[in-house]
Amino acid sequence: MGTRPVEGALARIEQLRELVRYHNELYHALDSPEIPDADFDALVVELRDLEAANPDLVVTDPSVSGVGGPTLNTFDEVVHALPMRSLDNAFDLDELRAWAGRVTRRLGAVPPAWVCELKFDGLAVSLRYENGRLVQAATRGDGRVGEDVTANVATISDVPAELASGAPPVLEVRGEVYMSKSAFAELNRVRMEADDKTFVNPRNTAAGSLRQKDPAVTATRDLSFWAYQVGEVAGDGGRSEPTGHHETLRWLGDLGLPVNDRAVRLTDFDDVVAHVIAVEGSRHDLDYEIDGVVVKVDDLAIQEELGSTARAPRWAIAYKLPPEERTTRLLDIEVSIGPGGQATPFARMEPVFVGGSTVAAATLHNADQVGVKDVRPGDMVVVRKAGDVIPEVVGPVLSERPEGSVPWVFPTDCPVCGSPLLRIEGEAATFCVDNACPGQVRGRIEHFASRGAMDIDGFGEARVDLFVTEGLMVDVADVYSLNLDRIAGFEGFGETSVRNLSDAIDRSRERPLGRLLFGLRIPHVGTTVADQLAQAFGSLAGLEAATVDQIEAVEGLGPVIATSVHGWMHDDHNMGLVERLRSAGVDPQAVLPTSDVPRVLEGMAIVVTGTLAGMGRDEAKAAIIARGGRSPGSVSVKTSALVAGEGGGSKLARAEELGVPVLDEAAFSLLLETGRLPT
Ligand code: IVH
Repeated sequence: MGTRPVEGALARIEQLRELVRYHNELYHALDSPEIPDADFDALVVELRDLEAANPDLVVTDPSVSGVGGPTLNTFDEVVHALPMRSLDNAFDLDELRAWAGRVTRRLGAVPPAWVCELKFDGLAVSLRYENGRLVQAATRGDGRVGEDVTANVATISDVPAELASGAPPVLEVRGEVYMSKSAFAELNRVRMEADDKTFVNPRNTAAGSLRQKDPAVTATRDLSFWAYQVGEVAGDGGRSEPTGHHETLRWLGDLGLPVNDRAVRLTDFDDVVAHVIAVEGSRHDLDYEIDGVVVKVDDLAIQEELGSTARAPRWAIAYKLPPEERTTRLLDIEVSIGPGGQATPFARMEPVFVGGSTVAAATLHNADQVGVKDVRPGDMVVVRKAGDVIPEVVGPVLSERPEGSVPWVFPTDCPVCGSPLLRIEGEAATFCVDNACPGQVRGRIEHFASRGAMDIDGFGEARVDLFVTEGLMVDVADVYSLNLDRIAGFEGFGETSVRNLSDAIDRSRERPLGRLLFGLRIPHVGTTVADQLAQAFGSLAGLEAATVDQIEAVEGLGPVIATSVHGWMHDDHNMGLVERLRSAGVDPQAVLPTSDVPRVLEGMAIVVTGTLAGMGRDEAKAAIIARGGRSPGSVSVKTSALVAGEGGGSKLARAEELGVPVLDEAAFSLLLETGRLPT
């Protein structure tokens, strides 16, 4: 007799089996999963663990074995000559190492050579070639019986109708049909333009496209294929077949099949681990989605010796990369008010670890987006975060929608100041139009004090909120007349923090004019335009005196910017603000190009990044501009050189990518003197 089931385990096992069966069917048979793979994997792991702890309760049920889903009856059935198995998963490096340990022990302590391949996120198919011609293509189905999708697969340009000479009389090739990220983006762009519903992700789209009844539809979908495995091979095509997996991949490539070139053969498992880590870091550089790395034993005879379980081979494992999609509870939809009055809905969610960080909030952009996605407070929602990309709420899990839920409606009044919100007919954005709304004021002050602008420490979100709520600030000029005595009385403000705040405010008076102009949030004025204006007009007074034409005459500035800047400078409220800043001692003067410095950098664009030992970044930019050059904020093909100080990360990488010369400080000094780039 086995162990008695733990109280409640049976109920949970049954519930999990039901869930796994339900989601398995959605994923494999209907191509419309509701929950991300990572959530599905978590259900399977929980079920296996519970079953392992309660062996009495284990029943064999093929629909929960995780191999795939049952077939739907829309396509003819294909019985696979050899079963199409799934892969066991390793969710971390310890599990990966444990698998290698098991394999090595089974082989009598002799570690084999390994092949690492990318795990493509598409759907598995088996292609059957007879006498070199494609005669059948089948989906995996339940692993034993799949669906005949020959006509559809024949439309995929990657899949050769005929193999190169030397193919054996019968060759079954297994691989993944997928949609590249660029093809997916293009498809959605076209659908968006046609007002069609867009697709959620490349995998589902590839699966749905392959299982179209009409191959003409599949043909429009730009699908691709990677070959990664051999099924049945019969007869001898006149050449000896490979004895290793890595060799097999090359052989498939020689036969004209698309084989991914990132597969590597490694003999030391530490190198396998290092490789897996490297893939994790570069997954976003690829134009196709991957969800892991498949590690396989290279030697085919050893594969044979290790054999398979009913579900998966013992000679391979899928190391799963951290999920980029998860589900979580949408607690509420709130509306934030930006510095320009824009009312932006955002999702507040139960924190969830996805795409490498914990996500608790995500923007929903605007009212239309919430409508299209129809996400409602209380819903379970799918959250997606790919690397550095901002998190996105993909959509609701409809099967888990609480009863009685109603669509969310955009508030009619500003949640901060209560004044009515305005949405201009035909525009996506909604605005709070009360300039004095504390929500807007907070945003403007935070921007003014931010690092790219006046860079004043001590004006974080919580503090600005406090100062505005306490009535100490209504606009950015109030930074310079803050009642520090009152602040000293607030909880959490010791003598030191008040002094630090006061010092930081004092220091900000020294910021260059470009920073100040950027900090004022003049519409259409980003950091680059702000610097150009500063260089052209030299001071607030200079800019005030400039006409629209004079502003437009500055190289790189057009009529929209010129009108916006001129309008802003002559608005009564803004003129008062500028005056108050000036009388508070905030009146920077730009270093203008002078005639006694030779204009050796005329026509050159020199970007500065990182920390220079000899001079500040602003000083370096000023030196460039004084010599007639430009100093844009980003590296492009037009950049003449990048001056890189300590810690110049992404710009340095971009310059290297584009072949833009990178200068250290010594080379920069020489450039300033002579205008010549080192050869
Ligand atoms: S080998 C018996 N290699 O992952 C081994 N599978 O989770 C068969 N997949 O069904 C699979 N990339 O759809 C293998 N390089 C790769 C793969 C790969 C993606 C998919 C395949 C498989 C699933 C298992």
